[in-house]
Amino acid sequence: MPDAAKLTHYLTELAKDVDGYLQSGSASVIWSLFEVQEELGITGNIAEIGVYHGRLFVFLCHAAADGETAIAIDVFDSQPHIQGIETDEDRQRFSDTNLKRNLAAAGIGDDKARIVTANSQDMTRPDMQALTGGANVRLFSVDGDHSRTGVRHDLGLAEAALCDGGVILADDLFNTLCPSLTEGIIDYFGADTPDLEPVAIIASNGPLITGGAKLLLARAQFANVYKAYLRLLNRENFRHAVPFLGFENVLVFDFQGAPVRHPLDDAVRAAVARFMSEEAH
Ligand SMILES: C[S@@+](CC[C@H](N)C(=O)[O-])C[C@H]1O[C@@H](n2cnc3c(N)ncnc32)[C@H](O)[C@@H]1O
Repeated sequence: MPDAAKLTHYLTELAKDVDGYLQSGSASVIWSLFEVQEELGITGNIAEIGVYHGRLFVFLCHAAADGETAIAIDVFDSQPHIQGIETDEDRQRFSDTNLKRNLAAAGIGDDKARIVTANSQDMTRPDMQALTGGANVRLFSVDGDHSRTGVRHDLGLAEAALCDGGVILADDLFNTLCPSLTEGIIDYFGADTPDLEPVAIIASNGPLITGGAKLLLARAQFANVYKAYLRLLNRENFRHAVPFLGFENVLVFDFQGAPVRHPLDDAVRAAVARFMSEEAH
């Protein structure tokens, strides 16, 4: 079980000093995902493409159990043209020293976090599997190249590394700063025939209509069980279920408050069991 005290301390105290992006809704749902994976006995590594200073990655590291590794993949300042790095200030902003400093401040050592400097666009699916040690990643965040082709490529890497019960979080769906990213996700579902289903759309900082959400994906056989848990655990933030990417009943959450932990108790277990048995008939 992830250490709730550490996660709370990070979200309430440390995260504000880490530059980057980790919105309250994402944090609440990711926290629920950790609880659901614990409940379902889903274990494995954790990975993120596009970590920047580690605002989300440090949070993910706190959830990695003994024997699990959190893998950070970022181009950092190794290929200056990618970020448009021109000045020393730019270089400092994209240097991996920021991530290393933030991991150290959170007490996360090399035994838990592995930093890989690479352009994900140069990686193949076997490269990614070699990096993660096979298809054993239980949570993969995709937040690197925000172009149409870039995100489509990275989704393929993430899917190749995903374990059976794992989930992918694709960032910036419907973000008007990078509209082509959404096209890349649609391309992936249209042409690459993934063994994935959309589970939920999670508003970043609300209100929902401002876009910039995270899209949660799971393998087809696990989509319904994740939906059942997330809908119950985060019921106060659940807005509606809609068709998306060719699938019915994709959950939409609108978060505007502070991140909240929703304990997975016997009442939730009983309700999920009822829902899943109704689904089976
Ligand atoms: C929006 S930031 C990520 C924010 C981060 N997830 C957080 O928690 O704050 C995007 C990151 O993607 C990285 N990036 C962009 N293109 C990349 C590529 N082709 N390969 C690997 N990383 C890339 C950038 O260096 C940058 O750190």
